[in-house]
Amino acid sequence: MKRLGITITDKNLLKSDIKNLKKKLVDHGVLIIKKQKLNNKKLIKFSKLFGQPIVHNFSKTISKYPEIMTIIKEKKDKKMFGGLWHSDSTYLKKPPRYTILYPKVLPGKKLGGTKFACMINAYNNLDSKTKKFVEKIYVCNSSQTKLYNYRKVKENNKHKKEIIAYHNLVKKISKNNKALYYSPGHIKSLSVSSSKILKPKRNKYLITKIKSILFKRNNIFTHEWEKGDLVIWDNYRTLHCPINNFRNKKRAMLRISVR
Ligand SMILES: [Fe+2]
Repeated sequence: MKRLGITITDKNLLKSDIKNLKKKLVDHGVLIIKKQKLNNKKLIKFSKLFGQPIVHNFSKTISKYPEIMTIIKEKKDKKMFGGLWHSDSTYLKKPPRYTILYPKVLPGKKLGGTKFACMINAYNNLDSKTKKFVEKIYVCNSSQTKLYNYRKVKENNKHKKEIIAYHNLVKKISKNNKALYYSPGHIKSLSVSSSKILKPKRNKYLITKIKSILFKRNNIFTHEWEKGDLVIWDNYRTLHCPINNFRNKKRAMLRISVR
């Protein structure tokens, strides 16, 4: 497996070889494109090269550009939006494959970075017996589990109803790669079918095992943001988590999710 996260240079983003970028995302999970100067229009145009941008359920958007979400930690805020390990919007039936993040305000050097974990390695590192077992498992993902508490109440009023989606725990990423599609921030339960939940003991055993592989130090890549960094990741093979290591400073990001 190739290493998680690579930095590339791209002088003319809108003329990118998308097939090549998508291939890089399968191989490396996260792409960092340095020194970009993008306005909202360009950001949307770039996202559309990858697919259809979706409007998020639980975040503020820019009124003229509803595809662009603003993810802001104000000086007074303690929590960060999406502040736990997760893959974006897994409670949707068709979750976004790609997420694009572009910084507007950064809190400072080595502050407010983003961690990523490789879900392909997580699958590859299971023993063959467990690999066989997880093929039969579904994850019940919900919009009202742990990450619910990391959303801003005022921006979340319209969506009181829980949104639930079942996904196979094992996801085929490419011809040769499978990943463990497991989002700790959204999981409600592991199931053997949409109506039969895994027994608690088995559930606990499997979750502990998955987490111990996913969050091993050598399975994690950390990106420390710099002005002009355009970052795009593949949600089907990468987990992410913002690093909340700053206080009394603002961090503002623009995000587009692409299906
Ligand atoms: Fe996220």
